[in-house]
Amino acid sequence: MFGDNGFFHSWWGELLLVLLVTVVATRIYASYVFSYWHRRGLASCSGSLPFGSMGDFVLQKKAISEVFADIYRQGEGHKLYGYYSFLSPALLVRDPELIRLVLVKDFPHFMNRGAYFNEKDDPLSAHIFSLEGEQWKKIRTKVSPFYATNKMKFMFDTIKSCSVDLQKYLLESSSMSESEFELKNLMSKYSIEVIAQTAIGMEGNNYKDRNMLSEMSFKVTDPNDLMQTFRFSLPFINRKLAAFLNLRFTPKETEDYYLDVLRQIIDERRKENIVKNDFMHLLLQLKGKSDTIDKGAGGLSLEEIAAQTFVFILAGHETSSSTIAFCLHELALNHSIQQQLIDEIDSTGCTIQQITFDQIQDLHYLDAVFQETLRKYPPAGVLLRECVKDYVCPDGFVIKQGTRLNISNYGLHRNPKLFPDPEKFDPNRFDKYSPSHNILPFSYLPFGEGPRFCIGKRFAMFSVKLGLYAILSKFRVESTGKSAPTVAFNPALFLNSPKDGIHVRFVPRTVR
Ligand code: HEM
Ligand SMILES: *[C@@H]1O[C@H](CO)[C@@H](O)[C@H](O)[C@H]1NC(C)=O
Ligand SMILES: *[C@@H]1O[C@H](CO)[C@@H](O)[C@H](O)[C@H]1NC(C)=O
Repeated sequence: MFGDNGFFHSWWGELLLVLLVTVVATRIYASYVFSYWHRRGLASCSGSLPFGSMGDFVLQKKAISEVFADIYRQGEGHKLYGYYSFLSPALLVRDPELIRLVLVKDFPHFMNRGAYFNEKDDPLSAHIFSLEGEQWKKIRTKVSPFYATNKMKFMFDTIKSCSVDLQKYLLESSSMSESEFELKNLMSKYSIEVIAQTAIGMEGNNYKDRNMLSEMSFKVTDPNDLMQTFRFSLPFINRKLAAFLNLRFTPKETEDYYLDVLRQIIDERRKENIVKNDFMHLLLQLKGKSDTIDKGAGGLSLEEIAAQTFVFILAGHETSSSTIAFCLHELALNHSIQQQLIDEIDSTGCTIQQITFDQIQDLHYLDAVFQETLRKYPPAGVLLRECVKDYVCPDGFVIKQGTRLNISNYGLHRNPKLFPDPEKFDPNRFDKYSPSHNILPFSYLPFGEGPRFCIGKRFAMFSVKLGLYAILSKFRVESTGKSAPTVAFNPALFLNSPKDGIHVRFVPRTVR
């Protein structure tokens, strides 16, 4: 009776049964999981296994900020809209007034980002962007004064000397008739130079060789390194699993290299009493006079100093360099806007060497161009928050503790109801005296808002504006035809970055 054939049949039969049960059970499970928001009485977009609403991102069809802009558009008419991040229900806050409550007024309910970090094994990941609760508050309070206006004045000359070097480099290149550049690459070199000098006082190598710091920053997010992509993505997918695996973001070589560089810099400064206009100097002052680098009562440990300067590279490098690249791309496409900006720059009568802190802030059109660039291309196109204690919305809906919330600033910035004709690059929207339309509070958020807004905002503003000033006071930018007018974002990166680069030609101007 139980011959070979019989066994074979029943084996197949059982397998089939198991499969069938699995399929049915998965279906039931999925429809249960992905009806969460429906059961809670909230409109949401659909989810499916295994990625929830994030399929386009995981399969790299779209950049993350475009995925969230899609969800934002689908949720038209809703203040709060549900979606599924893999199997977890999450919320997109759409309404500017509700955004204000979440980011500013009721901040204590939403003070964390829910980003992964691993202070013990990966000290460089414990920086202010990812820290939480009291620990975040402690560090933010300590470092905030360094980003205040008077400290920016202190760093202004350092940033300026980098833009002087950028101009020199471009003048040399153009005299050797090299005038075409890929902007993302070029501006990365400028921005890493600015960061190396202002954060840790490390002199760079002026655009010539490969730069260790920039390689280091690249290694953390290298899209071609599968292992690193996994390290970087898993925590977004499942923090508990990441914590269980003791995952680190920062490759060990990078950490060793960076801590080593810092030790050398600190030693040198101690021995020779060197004072530089940089962030490191300010942090060292905070450390106090004790010789050992441990966690002093008021001071910071070497690891803490390292993490807080390392975040300059992570949060400031890509963002600033993409901003300049996106801006020059638009200027190359619109000559009348470019001319108006050049006229304003020429009206100061100053070279990049002569321009002062106050003068650069008084250039209104430059400011409008800067803001419009960040409107159309916010480098960080999604804001993140995590609800840390239950919150009752004005309409009575309860956001439960542990729920993750995203805000699609990219979606807001491209919404035609908030920014008419959103694809059009039009600095007049931000004209200080007569804006071409009203901008609703909390609809324009390139740097976030509230107590956790971008701490480097003013710093970024100076490095972008001085970079543009250095270029446009000597050159005109022209399109080479190699880059399509509509920029596609690289789907492998978390920040908005041009996928195929941006190619322009720098044409020397005859000035003064
Ligand atoms: C154009 C350039 C930049 C843009 C568009 C940008 C954008 C942002 C955004 C959107 C956030 C999240 C804010 C929020 O959640 O409300 C952020 C946070 C942050 N940014 Fe920037 N950023 C830029 C440059 C910089 C620079 C140059 C630095 C370093 C000096 C920096 C350091 C930080 C830090 C440390 C945080 C986390 C703050 C906290 O959680 O307390 N950013 N940035
Ligand atoms: C938005 O939130 C989800 C969690 O709901 C998170 O996984 C995702 O990474 C967030 N977006 C970005 C750009 O990180
Ligand atoms: C350039 O920008 C100006 C001002 O916003 C606008 O009026 C004009 O139509 C734009 N030109 C092109 C070619 O896009």
